[in-house]
Amino acid sequence: MITVVVGTQWGDEGKGKIVDLLAANSDYVVRFHGGNNAGHTVVVNGKKFPFHIVPSGVLNPKTVAVISNGVVIDPDVLMEEIEMLKKEKIDVSKKLVISPRCHLIMPYHKELDLAYENARGKGKLGTTKRGIGPVYADKVSYNGIRVYELLNWQLFEEKFRFQAKIKNEILKAFQVEPIKVDSFLPKFRQFRQLIKPMVHDSFVIFEKALAKDKKILCEGAHGLMLDVDWGLYPYCTASNISVGAINLGAGLPVSKPIRVVGVIKAYLSRVGSGPLPTELFNETADNIRQKGHEYGTTTGRPRRIGWLDLSAVRFTTSLSCINQLAITRLDILSEVPQLKICVGYQLNGKPIAVSSCGYQELANVKPIYKTFSGWKEDITKIRKFKDLPINCQRYIKFIEKFLKIKIKIISVGPDRKETFFN
Ligand code: IMP
Repeated sequence: MITVVVGTQWGDEGKGKIVDLLAANSDYVVRFHGGNNAGHTVVVNGKKFPFHIVPSGVLNPKTVAVISNGVVIDPDVLMEEIEMLKKEKIDVSKKLVISPRCHLIMPYHKELDLAYENARGKGKLGTTKRGIGPVYADKVSYNGIRVYELLNWQLFEEKFRFQAKIKNEILKAFQVEPIKVDSFLPKFRQFRQLIKPMVHDSFVIFEKALAKDKKILCEGAHGLMLDVDWGLYPYCTASNISVGAINLGAGLPVSKPIRVVGVIKAYLSRVGSGPLPTELFNETADNIRQKGHEYGTTTGRPRRIGWLDLSAVRFTTSLSCINQLAITRLDILSEVPQLKICVGYQLNGKPIAVSSCGYQELANVKPIYKTFSGWKEDITKIRKFKDLPINCQRYIKFIEKFLKIKIKIISVGPDRKETFFN
């Protein structure tokens, strides 16, 4: 049985919490794309665990966490997260698997990301500056360095020196200090020693697991509107997020029936630039941002806030064959007197689908809204659908009806306990 959890919006939907919840019944939890541009927070008994690279389900005692080939790894970040897990007395050598095919985010990737963003000036994309675009660019232009090379030190050092020489020429054009390879080598040696016992061919592990009917949970990062092919290029990230990426990024079959859980935040948020038709620039947005602590887990940037955009979500649920939904952050909407949901766009007076929009069109569409009365009650203690305020029930039922997909999981607060199945 394969379950995939994907974000249906522009990221930060609360996937970490849903993954952590579903991981309780999973044998494996897998990150299959992206890198530490993602930030998934899990709260257990009031304690926060921010994960950027290690799959969020790792905290469950019986779950093995796999970082598969589609993921790009920043050694500094993975080392930090491994340390965090060790402090929690988690035996990482048994609980964490790293594919040798993962590409490494090298020091020059971060410098290049920053240099490109600075050079774009006003037209900057608002990347997380974690080197994500440059590392994926190197992957597909055969210039990448993987965990595989790192395990063979001589190969690694040769490739690192060769690539740094080229990248330093580019950095020079941006007037950026060159990378000094020797100063980074000790850290890479340390990283190599640390991860060596965890590096295994994940394909073989999954083949065996599937033969034994083990449960595999795939943790999507970011949100489908940021997919490099299907998102709003270039206001997107560099990896494929859609469900097919579990085949490319983890070697998992997509021909078997798959449970695809789409996570919807009850409103909209995003970090980074690019058009966002339902964005709000008023007090409601400020209140939601404050109450929901809507500041990026990865970069700390204040998130842009808007009304729930079901026009976009209808596209992403269809694209990724989503057959179940989880809604998060409903509690943040308590006390907003009136709520709106976008049900479509118009461009020059004519309806237009989000998939037909490039960034120029999306910047000019007019959202069509349906208005809902809000609810005042604090809902964080509620554990049954029928106990939710009637207006909250109406809001949820409308989403289900519009998307024709059942909302199976309802999250009413950040803690693992503040969730129920519907
Ligand atoms: P990059 O992935 O750092 O190259 O950033 C490209 C775009 O994707 C920027 O708008 C980022 O803010 C956005 N982005 C990347 N990862 C996430 C995420 O996990 N949550 C929200 N936005 C993200």
